[in-house]
This record gives sequence, structure tokens and C-alpha cells, in this order.
Amino acid sequence: MTAPDQSKIFDLAVEVLKENDQGGYTIPTKGLYPFQWNWDSCLTALGQSHFDEARAWTEIETLFEHQWPDGMVPHIVFHVHSDGYFPGPDVWATERPVATSGITQPAVAGFAVRRLFERARDKEMAARRARALLPKIDAWHRWFYANRDPKGEGLVAILHPWEAGRDNSIDWDEAFERVPTEGVEPYTRRDTQHADPAHRPTKEQYDRYLWLVQHFRGLDWDNAKLHDASPFQVVDPGFNAILIRACADLADLAETLKEPQIAADNRARASAGLAAMQSLWSAPHGQYLCKDRITGALIDSASIGGILPVFAAIPPDNAHAIARTIEKQGKAVKFIVPSQDPADPRFEAKRYWRGPVWLVTNYMIMDGLRSVEENGVSDRIVQSSLDLITQSGFAEYYDPLTGEPCGGGRFTWTAAMVLEFLQLAKR
Ligand code: GLC
Repeated sequence: MTAPDQSKIFDLAVEVLKENDQGGYTIPTKGLYPFQWNWDSCLTALGQSHFDEARAWTEIETLFEHQWPDGMVPHIVFHVHSDGYFPGPDVWATERPVATSGITQPAVAGFAVRRLFERARDKEMAARRARALLPKIDAWHRWFYANRDPKGEGLVAILHPWEAGRDNSIDWDEAFERVPTEGVEPYTRRDTQHADPAHRPTKEQYDRYLWLVQHFRGLDWDNAKLHDASPFQVVDPGFNAILIRACADLADLAETLKEPQIAADNRARASAGLAAMQSLWSAPHGQYLCKDRITGALIDSASIGGILPVFAAIPPDNAHAIARTIEKQGKAVKFIVPSQDPADPRFEAKRYWRGPVWLVTNYMIMDGLRSVEENGVSDRIVQSSLDLITQSGFAEYYDPLTGEPCGGGRFTWTAAMVLEFLQLAKR
């Protein structure tokens, strides 16, 4: 595999991570996202571990300092005041000691902590810090299944598109129709002042994002009530796969650290999730699909959410089928893996999660494919990712047809993933 001037790219990536470091936490990028984001931080810690192991642990510890008493880990922690982002703390009004949002994000922490632990050079420090995080991550996983899977189906629902981390995916369009727009308080968006409006979610989508926030706020953010009260309940295979992988990784880590109860509980969550996941498989699409929990129907949208399950231990036949699907998509685009099937007429090459390539999803897909020895496709993902960096720098995301950089620049999790990919390209 050819990797372009690796040491130079390594140094540039470290520079981005350091520049966005605020002390105990890292912002995704200046301007657009001035606070701490949940899954950004966990993936960022992996990047930091290549040059400062202690700092990497701190990134995740800081996030968990803001875990709610019920176990939820919020999607944003508003550590400091900033006018640059909307909706800010007064819109969420969650009344936490340090302001946070009231929804969550993909549960990547269990995976990240296990990986930090395994690669640690300072084993004593890693054991101590992983041990302290174990019960907190376990409480978050318990929270998910208690509050987002109230009927015990084995799969959790997201109640807001922002929870999936794929804000404006085509997956949500149909179910989102059910979310009203009446009664949304007047607001001014900030994102469109930092990035091209043609690449961002639409005004109508924003109204619905805010309607849901107001609705949940009206229920005092009581997680025992939110699931059933939400007109938007979607079972996202990618979101579940990340949680399942995190449960399995936490179980392994707990065994190593001699915490048998945490190990057994998380093992059980992972196996129930994997069994239930099969109901989301679509043979015609060669991937998994989202399910609308309100109607019970699968959602006909071939997005990256249904490719991401390779990150969990799904049946190898399904993983190989997904590899073939990616290869097929790779004939239509120059850079893989697009966030929507380019053959879908709704595909938009530059609009956020409706087509562009993101390095974080590339990383998780690549990791899953390697474990079933799909080395051809996984090597191509590494190559595509490094080519994008060489061509277009550390952007938030990229046009899969041209490689053009989109969204925010000097982006933290992109830089973190580059450090991971460089490591793999060396082999
Ligand atoms: C956007 C992304 C989300 C990410 C956040 C901060 O909202 O869709 O996944 O966590 O930006 O980078």
C-alpha cells in the first residue's frame, strides 16, 4: 500500500488535534462546533494515544464526568459559553451542573477504551483508568436497553436524528414527516454562517430537529417518558452495531480486569443485539436497513447505517455481502465509502450525510472488514482515506465523486482517524 509522505501527514494531524485541544477536552473544529461532542471525543482519544497516552484517557474521562445520574452520556457538553452554535444550553435547558444537551450519540466509548487499553505502553496507568471507566460505560449501556428498548427487542431506537450522528441522513426522511413543525420558537441558525448552506441540512429539517428538542424539554428530559412520547423512533443498524461492539469489547475488558458481572451483562446485551439485528437484513440491498419502530416497517434507504454493522460480529456471510456492496458502490464513485448508495436517486454528493465520505465511518467499516479478512476492500478504504487527506486536507467530510473538502476545516476526528490509518498503512 502506498502512503504519501507519512511523517509529514502525521505531524500535520497532530497539529490539528493540539490546536483544537481545550485542556481536558477537544472541540471538533473551531467556529462550527465549539464544545465537546460525545463520539467525536471517544474517537479522538484513539488519535491522541499515538502521541500522548495520558491525554487520550483524559478525553474520555472528561466526557464521563458529565454522565447523567440515570446513566445517559449526553451528545454535547457545553463546557464554556459560546454564541457560535445553535441550539445552545438555554434551548436544551437540561439543568445539569455543567450544561449538556439532552440526547445521546453512538456508544463508541466501550470500543475506544478497550483499544486504548490494549495498545497502552503504560499498562499500570491503563488498568487503573480503564477500571474506573468500566462501571460508567456499563451504566450507559444499561441505560440504552432500559430506556430505548422498553419492550426488550434487543435493539435500541434513536429518538432524534442527531443521536445517530448522521444528522440529515435519507434514512430519517419518511419518519421525520411525522414530526410537526408548528410551534417551533423563532431561531437563528449558526451552522450556515460557518459552512455552505447548500451542504447543510434544510430549514424544514431544522424546524423538526427543534420541535423534538422542545417536545422532550416539555417532558423535563425524563428518559422514562421520552421513548413512548416521541413521534420519531428509528432502529438504526449502524447505531446498534456500534453499541453491540462496545458491549462485546467492554465484556472482554471486564474479564481481563476481573469484573465478572459487568462482563456477563455486556456479553448478554451483545448476543441479544446480534440475534435481533438479523431482522434488519435486506438481501436485495446487500446490507442492513433502518426500521421505523412506529410503523414496524423497514425503511427503503441504502445508507452507510446499514453498512456499519460489519463493525459488530454479524454472521460472516452478511459481512462478505456488505463487502461486495461496497465494491459495487466503488465503481460509481472515486472515493469510498459514500454515506448513501450513489445509485439512490436521493444521493447528494456534497450534502453532509446524504452522500459524502466521512473518515470515522470509514474507520469502523475498515476495522470490521479486516476481522473477516476482506483485505482487498479494507485496504481500499485505507487508501481512499489517505488519498482524500493528501488531496484535500483535514476536512469534516468529502465529496465521493471529486474528493472535494466539505463542511468545517481542520477537523479533529478526521485528523485522529488519519493517525489510525497511517498506522495501518505501515504494515
Ligand atoms: C455533526 C455530525 C455529528 C458530529 C458533530 C460534531 O453534527 O453529524 O456526527 O458528532 O457534527 O462533529
